[in-house]
Amino acid sequence: MSKELTFSIIKPDAVAAGNIGSILQMISDAGLKIKATKMIHMSREQAEGFYAVHKERPFFGELVDFMISGPVVVSVLEGENAIARYRELMGATNPEQAEEGTIRKKFATNIQNNAVHGSDAPETAAVEVAYFFSNIEMVG
Ligand code: PPS
Repeated sequence: MSKELTFSIIKPDAVAAGNIGSILQMISDAGLKIKATKMIHMSREQAEGFYAVHKERPFFGELVDFMISGPVVVSVLEGENAIARYRELMGATNPEQAEEGTIRKKFATNIQNNAVHGSDAPETAAVEVAYFFSNIEMVG
């Protein structure tokens, strides 16, 4: 199987709690290669654009407010089946349902403050990577 890219965000709750290093270590230990990474503080416009697919959902405003409440770490990850493997490592969206050993079980507080984001399909991964990174920012 060929290598696949996925896009990750370490969300403001996990950054504020000092968990960047632990989460990047879990990603690396899972065999996913970090192709690019940087810390940013999203503008409202950027966050609304990123989550545009959810704009009709009742929690959209709160989700955007949360995502701009502090800095985040955005990364591009690479590996075989990287999208599914990273979502497995993240655990369920609601940490109450997340399995032992997952990032959300360890570091998430609730369905909003849930520590990480990961792309859900190849099409969204491509759009999300391009939203935050240019090709020259990625290592070979
Ligand atoms: S998923 O993982 O996309 O299937 O999950 P989904 O339930 O569709 O949620 C999409 C994103 O919205 C966040 N979310 C919420 N934020 C605030 N309040 C509530 N109630 C809520 N429910 C879901 C969820 O964490 C997902 O964020 P991302 O960044 O995509 O992981």
